Amino acid sequence: MLIVGCGLFLSAMIQAQRSEFLLEKNWKFTKGDVTGAVSPEFDDSKWETVSVPHDWAIFGPFDRSNDLQNVAITQNFEKKASVKTGRSGGLPYVGVGWYRTKFDVPAGKQATLVFDGAMSEARVYVNGKEACFWPFGYNSFHCNVTELLNENGKNNVLSVRLENKPQSSRWYPGAGLYRNVRVVTTDRIYVPVWGTQLTTPHVSSEYASVRLRTEIANAGENNIRVVTEIVSPDGKVVAVKDNTGKINHGRPFEQNFLVNSPALWSPETPYLYKASSKIYVDGKQVDEYITRFGIRSIEIVADKGFFLNGKHRKFQGVCNHHDLGPLGAAVNVAALRRQLTLLKDMGCDAVRTSHNMPAPELVELCDEMGFMMMIEPFDEWDIAKCENGYHRYFGEWAERDMVNMLRHYRNNASVVMWSIGNEVPTQCSPEGYKVASFLQDICHREDPTRPVTCGMDQVSCVLENGFAAMIDVPGLNYRAHRYVESYNALPQNIILGSETASTVSSRGVYKFPVEKRASVRYDDHQCSGYDIECCYWSNIPDVDFALADDYDWTIGQFVWTGFDYLGEPSPYDTDSWPSHSSVFGIIDLASLPKDRYYLYRSIWNKNVNTLHILPHWTWPGREGENTPVFVYTNYPGAELFINGKSYGKQRKLTAGESEALQGKDSLALQRRYRLMWMDVPYEPGELKVVAYDAAGKPVEEKTVHTAGKPHHLELVADRTGLVADGKDLAYITVRVVDKDGNLCPSDNRLVSFSVKGAGRYRAAANGDATSLDLFHLPKMPAFNGQLTAIVQSTEQSGEIVFEAKAKGLRTGKIVLSAGTQR
Ligand code: GAL
Repeated sequence: MLIVGCGLFLSAMIQAQRSEFLLEKNWKFTKGDVTGAVSPEFDDSKWETVSVPHDWAIFGPFDRSNDLQNVAITQNFEKKASVKTGRSGGLPYVGVGWYRTKFDVPAGKQATLVFDGAMSEARVYVNGKEACFWPFGYNSFHCNVTELLNENGKNNVLSVRLENKPQSSRWYPGAGLYRNVRVVTTDRIYVPVWGTQLTTPHVSSEYASVRLRTEIANAGENNIRVVTEIVSPDGKVVAVKDNTGKINHGRPFEQNFLVNSPALWSPETPYLYKASSKIYVDGKQVDEYITRFGIRSIEIVADKGFFLNGKHRKFQGVCNHHDLGPLGAAVNVAALRRQLTLLKDMGCDAVRTSHNMPAPELVELCDEMGFMMMIEPFDEWDIAKCENGYHRYFGEWAERDMVNMLRHYRNNASVVMWSIGNEVPTQCSPEGYKVASFLQDICHREDPTRPVTCGMDQVSCVLENGFAAMIDVPGLNYRAHRYVESYNALPQNIILGSETASTVSSRGVYKFPVEKRASVRYDDHQCSGYDIECCYWSNIPDVDFALADDYDWTIGQFVWTGFDYLGEPSPYDTDSWPSHSSVFGIIDLASLPKDRYYLYRSIWNKNVNTLHILPHWTWPGREGENTPVFVYTNYPGAELFINGKSYGKQRKLTAGESEALQGKDSLALQRRYRLMWMDVPYEPGELKVVAYDAAGKPVEEKTVHTAGKPHHLELVADRTGLVADGKDLAYITVRVVDKDGNLCPSDNRLVSFSVKGAGRYRAAANGDATSLDLFHLPKMPAFNGQLTAIVQSTEQSGEIVFEAKAKGLRTGKIVLSAGTQR
């Protein structure tokens, strides 16, 4: 990780040796292939002007025919091919796209282009000559383009050709230069991209040892002097080393430090240090490089579990794909921060970047906000899941892709584990273990400090063929009923829930009768919000809670998924258009928490109380019909009242009590984690729960009212002060409410938006997987009474006025401000 420019004086000095800038604005873009576009003289004036990060496909339109796939999804046990609609989101990501821009560098400098990710098969040209090729769209890569620059360093033309093949993904991959592109310029002797490796070989509360290895390019036989300061989270220099030597036998320059009373990194205390190194040759400074890191220890103990800084804990993690819902794949720090803020409040402490390398901004935010990360590069190795998937490149590129990922993120405190793949079909081939071993060895070679896992779903294969036995941490995807057997069969005596749950629900949708069911499909293409539906290969959350509670050797889980994502609309993936996004998320595509959010929060977040009631209580036409009520709470018990009448007290069952009910009550396990009143005749009015503590004392209550006529639009912004940097975002929840502010939970009317002043409308989403409304147009129907509109700052400071209007409702208005502070 590289941070440049601390303080005026320093940045002036760094200017002289190293500079780093993003290529963001004034790119020219066109869709489709173009001859001659690599040439500096090519006339691109008719192309669209765009800013990068840019996702060309998110603007739609959605269409059933976009990347229509006729496949058998073998990991879902399908034997026969069938037409899959919306598998990659029904968005036009397939095809060729060209980008062009110009950049200047100071004459005589080394220049390196760094692409954080380019989707995909990137061919990079500088001044008409090929600079590099990188096929995998998720990985970061860099190329030194010094030799291709114009002599005076000015007006260098950068052209990038990208191509996405059809049937190359199981989800929406995005398209284009969807992550940042940066230019790094340095002197001739310099620290290359990701050129340091920082480890903390000893960690205790008294002291930590810190080892820094610095690569130096073009060092030759020179004597190199490296002066490194270790700076604490509160900005004090806590250790310094001034060493001189040669780069011996190509080995990096090594320095060791002692840090007394270190502030240890953890999700709860995300303290970050930095190692700030100045490099001198012949008394002259040639480079400065900053490595941000955290001091923390990780340990896996057989039979005992996972330890961070010597403390036992279980991963309370989620898997996420990389898209940001209505923003598509185009990375945005404010959007990532918004996601992590919601996850933090849920008590989530870990993220799996399924099934690809993340954007660096996500890893940096996880360092800063306190999330443990499992970074995973691949969904395919040498055997295909998708006809045009990564298997085409695996043989030639796997090691290079691994090396880039490992070097990029091995100094990040948040990263505690690598995964080498997800449900790869190779797990069942007789020699599959060799491929796993090849990849695991690369991890160990590049980073001996972190364990390696692999998400395995073919339990019989991997137990039998030795594949699971050789992975540092065996990770099972689903197959909860085979945990005990796997634990007993495997030498590691530890099981990670590398992917769990895949519960399906649509926000605000409740289906009756309330029954546990798998892969049920309804005419409206929605799933029930009672959180008791899953797919036939998956399970509902309580199963994973129990595994974590009942067995020491389970080291926690990564739920599929934290957020709904574009594509993979199971169970509506087989010719079920329109349906363009998943319903697995705990939080929907509009960033609105589903009920399930509160179930996880009630178990995971030990710092706050949770008392959440479902369903809503506005059911005209259901009078007298059975309408079960669920309460998600950390309190041990509660009493339910409808219009003042008690429906009795419920308390959570112990493991033994729930066990005793198995076979008699289909929701026996759920009774350990949820309070459920299964026989409740609906009558309009007031639904109230009173929560009791362990001593039976009433401690908190919550009410839900039947909504009256829709009256106005209520707006709630996640933040009202934005940074005027042209990128910052506010997420505004728009709610259709009655005159008393009660949500009208089935209102789906069209809402339109306007933004005035120092902001612009960016996108909206409603979380309805069947909606074909385009995110970037300033209108969107509500879904079950709610939607989210996203406003982006400009580079001007000032007031931003956002208005939402809908027929028959009082307009909603909210004033935000953009300035220099976040
Ligand atoms: C898993 C897979 C995920 C996703 C999920 C849906 O098998 O690893 O990528 O497809 O199923 O349940």
